[in-house]
Amino acid sequence: MEIATKQDNLGMKILSVLHRDHINMSKLLTLIERNIEQIKQGHSADLKLMAEAIEYIGHYADLYHHPLEDVLYDYFKDKSAELTLLINRCEKEHQDLKVCTEQVLSPISVSLLDGMLPMAKIIENLEAFLEQEKQHINFEEGQIFPKIEALANAQDWEKLAKESWLKTDAMFQKFDSNHYAELYADLEEAIAS
Ligand SMILES: [Fe+2]
Ligand SMILES: [Fe+2]
Repeated sequence: MEIATKQDNLGMKILSVLHRDHINMSKLLTLIERNIEQIKQGHSADLKLMAEAIEYIGHYADLYHHPLEDVLYDYFKDKSAELTLLINRCEKEHQDLKVCTEQVLSPISVSLLDGMLPMAKIIENLEAFLEQEKQHINFEEGQIFPKIEALANAQDWEKLAKESWLKTDAMFQKFDSNHYAELYADLEEAIAS
């Protein structure tokens, strides 16, 4: 029983890190969503702050979150036909998310530079971005992670713990995860004001 608990903990490490990331991303997405609602009701938009939050989500995903998921998905990709299909879809979604992030940031950057605010277009892109991010997180949490958990054994988790640590530790050292908390506080403040 004690051994099983230790082995489970190794497995939980990679999944719990990814799950924690999803919670943090979701918090930022919810705040961006609330900010959009306020803009629609006539409040002024803090586009710089919104862009920073979106950029952070995209940057964090590129640098750390997706590479960590790649370790997990590469390992389990061919272990069941159903999982192979789901992971292929997921990898395609990672590429789409990258494009969507660039698409949402580009008009914001333009409007910040020239002061012209194509607000309807910006909001349309922001809503598409939010929808795509939320759908992707729900897909991973609701379909991929439970299937991997059901399939994996203690040895799998042990190997993965080593692989993921080797691949992502150096990258993670460069990343300031406290920035999430700062952005979260700034966005909450923007909504409250
Ligand atoms: Fe993902
Ligand atoms: Fe994810």
